[in-house]
Parts: sequence; C-alpha cells; structure tokens
Amino acid sequence: MPFSLAPRLGFIGAGRLARCLVLGFARAGYPVTAIASRRGDAARELAAVLGACQAVEDPQQVVEAADIVFLATPDDSIGTIANTLQFDGAIARGARKALVHCSGATGVDVLAGAAAQGVLTGCFHPLFLFSGAPADVDRIAGCSITIEANAELAEALKTLARSMSCHPLEIPAGQRMLYHGAAHYAASFALCALFEAVQLWRTLGLTEEDALRALLPMLSGTIDTAREKGLANALAGPVSRGDAALLQKQLACFEALGSDHAALYGLLTRRAVALARQRAHPPATIDAIDRIVEDSLARTLQVQAPSKP
Ligand SMILES: NC(=O)c1ccc[n+]([C@@H]2O[C@H](COP(=O)([O-])OP(=O)(O)OC[C@H]3O[C@@H](n4cnc5c(N)ncnc54)[C@H](OP(=O)(O)O)[C@@H]3O)[C@@H](O)[C@H]2O)c1
Repeated sequence: MPFSLAPRLGFIGAGRLARCLVLGFARAGYPVTAIASRRGDAARELAAVLGACQAVEDPQQVVEAADIVFLATPDDSIGTIANTLQFDGAIARGARKALVHCSGATGVDVLAGAAAQGVLTGCFHPLFLFSGAPADVDRIAGCSITIEANAELAEALKTLARSMSCHPLEIPAGQRMLYHGAAHYAASFALCALFEAVQLWRTLGLTEEDALRALLPMLSGTIDTAREKGLANALAGPVSRGDAALLQKQLACFEALGSDHAALYGLLTRRAVALARQRAHPPATIDAIDRIVEDSLARTLQVQAPSKP
C-alpha cells in the first residue's frame, strides 16, 4: 500500500479552498501537519484551529511534514511553486510522497518537475464554489471531486474525497480543458442564460428584481425535476410539447430583435431538440421542429456581435 490509511496531509496555500479541505480532512480524522502561505496570518489562523499543525512560510517545510501535499494556490502560481519543491531527499530515504493541485483547468503535467523526482502527482478538483467560511465544510457534502492521478494515488484521493461525504469523479488524462469548460454550463453559463432573460424582460419594463423573483423559482423547479427524472424528461416548452407553430413564432420574434438574440435562442433550442429525441416517445413533430430551428440558425448565425454599452 503506497500510503498509510491516514496519510499526513499538508497544504501550500491557506485560501478559500484550503480552509474547507483542511477543516474537512481534520474532521474526518486525517492528520493535517503543515500549512504554508506567504502572508503567515492565514496559515497561522487555520493551523491554530487544528492544534497539532505547523504554520510555515516556506512551502518546502510542507514537503518535509506531509505525505500528500495539496498545492492550493492560484492557478497561475501552481507550476512555479511546484518547481521550487525538493522531494528527492525524502524519496531517497524511501518516503512515499504525492503532490496534488486543486485547479479544474490546469493540467497535471504542470507538476512534471516533481514527478521527475519520483513523486506521485495528480489533481483533486472539488466542483464547488468555496466562500472561505467554515460553513463550507458542511455544504461540500454531496458534491463531486474530480480526480486525475495514476491508480495508486487515485485510490488515496478517492478515500479522501469520500471522507468529506463527496463523490469521487475520474476523468481521462489530458482532458481538463473540455472538462472544466463544460462545467461552466452548470455555473456561470446558467447565470448568463438568466441574464439574457432579464435583459429581454427589461424591454417590457420589468426590473432585474422582478425578473429574478419570477425566474429563480422556475429554475429551482427545473433543477429538482431534472434530479428526479433526468434531463430529457425535465424538458419543458414548445419543443417538448412538439408545438412547431409556437416555436416558429418565437424564433421569428427573436429574429426581429436583431443582434444575437435569435442565434443564442436557436443554438439552445437545437440542444432542446436533441434532448427531446432522447425521450422514450419524442414528439411526432420533432423532425419538422428540427428543420425550423436549423432554418432559423442558417439565417442568424452570421449576425454581428451586439454593440458594447
Ligand atoms: N475558490 C473556489 O471556489 C475553487 C473551487 C475549485 C477549485 N479551486 C482551486 O483551488 C486553488 C486555490 O484557489 P482559492 O480560491 O483557494 O484561492 P485563494 O482563496 O485566492 O487562496 C490562495 C492561497 O494561496 C496563497 N498563495 C498565493 N500565492 C502563493 C505563493 N506564490 N506561494 C504560497 N502561497 C501562495 C495565498 O496566500 P498568500 O497570498 O498569503 O500567500 C492564499 O492563502 C486554485 O487552483 C483554484 O482553481 C478553487
């Protein structure tokens, strides 16, 4: 077994993510032995909560004190910091060490310098927006944590994820751009879809407050239905009902607005058609709807970008 059942954990970085993982792992019974940050206060405050944990300023001290080192610093600093770490002394003494970063978009290859010293390297990316508050430790339960590592390290990281009641998720090596980009559809792009709705309703005289009061409960209901019945069966609206005539009128309305409103609406409707086709009984008019959408997209995809405010 590469790591003991309770590997010593260390953190470089004491920000929003580190605060949650440190407290979560400690609560699960793992020894968190060292935390580093450049401004020592954050590391000292966090270490003080645990008791038997050193707050250090030199990241190398974390390497000495821990079996699995989490590099929890901003994405653009991961490679630079990793390249300063010396593991070869510990490896020569027969120690088993791992270096793990927590970024969604950064490849594991950024840790190649450490891997060349005989260290296991990987990524541990929680699909969660950390607030930095202690409540994150409870709120993270039920979330997924994406792990990219070789089989040995992946097992240890999966156990760590489960210790915080999270679901480990594995992705193939080298696919982080697609993975991370796609995840935006469930976070920022959901906000962008709401922003489009709010902007359109503003032209009817409604405020953002009016719009969100009306739209957010609808979004919550849609998410609840998707959780219960899956995406295809949660689909609502004219495509799901096979109402080709209504869809044609909606697309015409959006085309008349100009700018890129109809293109955005058409592209999302194209995905609605694909979802409707996944149902056990797709609407009988789905092929006709498909043609209406594609005809609209052919007219609108070449539109100019909207003018900047
Ligand atoms: N926040 C999220 O919701 C979230 C979600 C998933 C994944 N992540 C990932 O988690 C990682 C950390 O993000 P975060 O949100 O926790 O960042 P953060 O809140 O900005 O904290 C970054 C920490 O790193 C320290 N730091 C910065 N540069 C450093 C350096 N050169 N050497 C040592 N320590 C350094 C900072 O303290 P000092 O300035 O005092 O050194 C701070 O303690 C990133 O890779 C991010 O992509 C974040």
